Amino acid sequence: YSAGIEIHEQTLVAVKPDGVQRRLVGEIIQRFEKRGFQLMGLKLVQPSRDVLLKHYHDLQEKPFYSALIQYMSSGPIILMVWEGCDVVRISRMMVGDTDPALAQPGTVRGDLCVHISRNAIHASDSVEVAKKEISLWFHRNELVEWESCTIKNIY
Ligand code: PPS
Repeated sequence: YSAGIEIHEQTLVAVKPDGVQRRLVGEIIQRFEKRGFQLMGLKLVQPSRDVLLKHYHDLQEKPFYSALIQYMSSGPIILMVWEGCDVVRISRMMVGDTDPALAQPGTVRGDLCVHISRNAIHASDSVEVAKKEISLWFHRNELVEWESCTIKNIY
């Protein structure tokens, strides 16, 4: 890689309760794998209200805030850290418009959901926000270092 290309950029992607309950986890992971991003962390959690309040701190004044917190607490979610070149921007493109009714076909929301209150997936909206969200949801020791992976692929 030439100098100046940040290949270790990371983003937080979450499959929301509706996405988990609708069995969309495999399809969503596959899209990120096939695009060429590297999976650095993955877990299924029942998010606590406390962490959700921190995660959505900036939306406190929005009319949909309490419905959003209730929706996000309504079941297990999948949390993932994906790494790669321009991963924050490209992930947002892959996820599509916040409102699935406006999301382009080919995006996760444009292909897999219909309503803004059940929009299946979250992805960090900037590199700075990604850093905060990753440290909010993951301990350092829950993220892997692929550089230390020495076994060779036999296929
Ligand atoms: S805003 O209003 O510009 O701040 O909204 P936006 O940045 O597009 O979205 C912020 C998060 O709020 C969610 N959202 C909603 N949830 C439920 N109902 C409604 N009407 C609604 N509008 C926005 C949206 O999905 C974003 O959450 P994440 O987890 O980032 O997808």
